[in-house]
Amino acid sequence: MSRKLQAPRGTLDVQPADGRRRLRIQRIAAELLGRAGYEPFDTPVFEDTELFARGVGASTDIVQKEMFTFEDKAGRSLTLRPEATAAICRAYVEHGMHKLPQPVKLWTWGPFFRHEAPQAGRFRQFTQIDAEALGSDDPSLDAELILLLAELIERAGAGPARLRLSSLGTPETRAAYLDELRGHLRDHEGELSEDVRDRLEANPLRAFDADHAGTQAVMAGAPRLLDRLDPADAEHFADVCALLDAAGQAYEVDSTLVRGLDYYTRTVFEFESERLGAQAALGGGGRYDRLIEELGGPPTPGVGWAAGIERILLASEAEPESDSRVYIALAKPDAMADAFGLAQRLRGQGIRTEIEQAGRSMKGQLKQADRIGARATVILGDGIEVKDMDSGEQRAVRDADEAAARVGELLG
Ligand code: HAM
Repeated sequence: MSRKLQAPRGTLDVQPADGRRRLRIQRIAAELLGRAGYEPFDTPVFEDTELFARGVGASTDIVQKEMFTFEDKAGRSLTLRPEATAAICRAYVEHGMHKLPQPVKLWTWGPFFRHEAPQAGRFRQFTQIDAEALGSDDPSLDAELILLLAELIERAGAGPARLRLSSLGTPETRAAYLDELRGHLRDHEGELSEDVRDRLEANPLRAFDADHAGTQAVMAGAPRLLDRLDPADAEHFADVCALLDAAGQAYEVDSTLVRGLDYYTRTVFEFESERLGAQAALGGGGRYDRLIEELGGPPTPGVGWAAGIERILLASEAEPESDSRVYIALAKPDAMADAFGLAQRLRGQGIRTEIEQAGRSMKGQLKQADRIGARATVILGDGIEVKDMDSGEQRAVRDADEAAARVGELLG
């Protein structure tokens, strides 16, 4: 017997109820971001592998373990995009977008790929909405983007979400800080958990997340990156915070916030939902003031975020379906042409209209109208009748005009 075919591990089929919810979120994002001057933009689903190795960072988990990489027929190494920012920066350079009025504000939506261990809220193919502002380091862009993501989460029904915020300063500040932190951990090596001790050199920041009481005591006295920022970076962070305060946006300054991508400088942030389990991040992002230059462009600051649609849906409740639909039943076989005419007319008025298209009996057709939740059924036979599906009242009408008017009345 042949093997049963299934969707690949870590992927999902979007069924109609979720498809509708996803479209709704996409519409909210388009409206919200459009109003703030963000333009739609798309990049390919695959790129040169080198883009991500250089952009996301060769030492990140994403590049080391999670990329779907393959060779094309000419032997070029390509990778299914694990995120959007590197590609948007590549496009910015490729199209000379630094010549446009700055900042260039873009947003995109689509599938992304990471070869992670699947679990609730974590997939190998997932969908992001991503927004980026390139070409200015103004702190108001950081704040604006954070407020836009907060509003998206809220309007998508995935709130409340906790906003964690920090600043990473420059890579140089960070390197000096990590040395200082390692020194602190080494001074207290005997009090640390084994796990933290083992990763002390490679990843000292992990010690901030430890459950181990001894480690926690050591970390309470550990130096914080936020206290080591250059004056200009500290001022930038203070400006971002002040703008969020002025907008009434709550946040927690969390100097232990670590993001899984290497390109960040200055502001980093993440929105977490209490309704989700281990994979609680609904979205996150930050500033990447050196990335475009690293990808071969002129020195150009940038800031942005991405939100995971599957997680937003997991954290939000399904909307009740609207009942504003109409069913056209055929009481005689040759009514189809009239049904088409009426359906086109109702659809033209923005009314969701379905026609009987499966050869059901009259009884079966009314049952089908019920099943799809029609508010009205138009029955086309020798005459035309319109049935109010709530009250059961069935009324004869003179012609298609009157049928359309009656349907309009019922759908209110
Ligand atoms: P990220 O934090 O890696 O950032 O991903 C952003 C969001 O994508 C996450 O918060 C999560 O909701 C969703 N996500 C990530 N991986 C998965 C997965 N395996 N399954 C389901 N959802 C997932 C970025 O990607 C950056 N490019 C964001 C950014 C834009 N920074 C600056 N500009």
